Amino acid sequence: MSKLVSRALLVSALVLAGGSAVLADAPPPGPPMMMPPYMLRPEAPAGDRLKPGGDGKVLFEVHCGYCHLLGGMGSNLLTKQRMMMGETPDKGLLVNRTDLTADYVKSVVRMGKGAMPAQTRVDVTDAELQAVAKYLGKAG
Ligand code: HEC
Repeated sequence: MSKLVSRALLVSALVLAGGSAVLADAPPPGPPMMMPPYMLRPEAPAGDRLKPGGDGKVLFEVHCGYCHLLGGMGSNLLTKQRMMMGETPDKGLLVNRTDLTADYVKSVVRMGKGAMPAQTRVDVTDAELQAVAKYLGKAG
């Protein structure tokens, strides 16, 4: 075996040994990894999704939370937008906004806006949207 080949074999053996040692290692010490809020949304409530009178907060968290709770892509994008307008970062969360009307919320949800895809009646039914829009629409 040439010197070069045996050196190459030695190097790959070391890489393999090192690699398996890394895989076998325990996770680093410290607190367990925390899930960000947008990954911790509640389960969808059971029952008829077409029935009016649902809980707007829960329905918002279920149907909009994966983008609009803390850490979600909608919150990240809106935080930047609001800060560019001179507002505080907390205004990136829709739930902290006081300037949204229920009608505006409904039209953004059905039509989409910029990077937000339109939500169909399967994503969120009219009854669910009604409750969510009432919850977010603090400006009326
Ligand atoms: C797939 C991710 C996603 C989902 C799901 C989503 N949104 Fe959005 N939403 C966004 C993004 C991103 C923006 C910012 C769009 C932009 O300006 O480009 C946004 C913007 C908005 C705005 C406009 C805010 C403003 O300042 O004009 C409203 C209102 C809104 N979303 C409501 C909702 C509601 C209510 C739901 C649930 C029914 C929902 N969104 C679901 C991603 C999402």
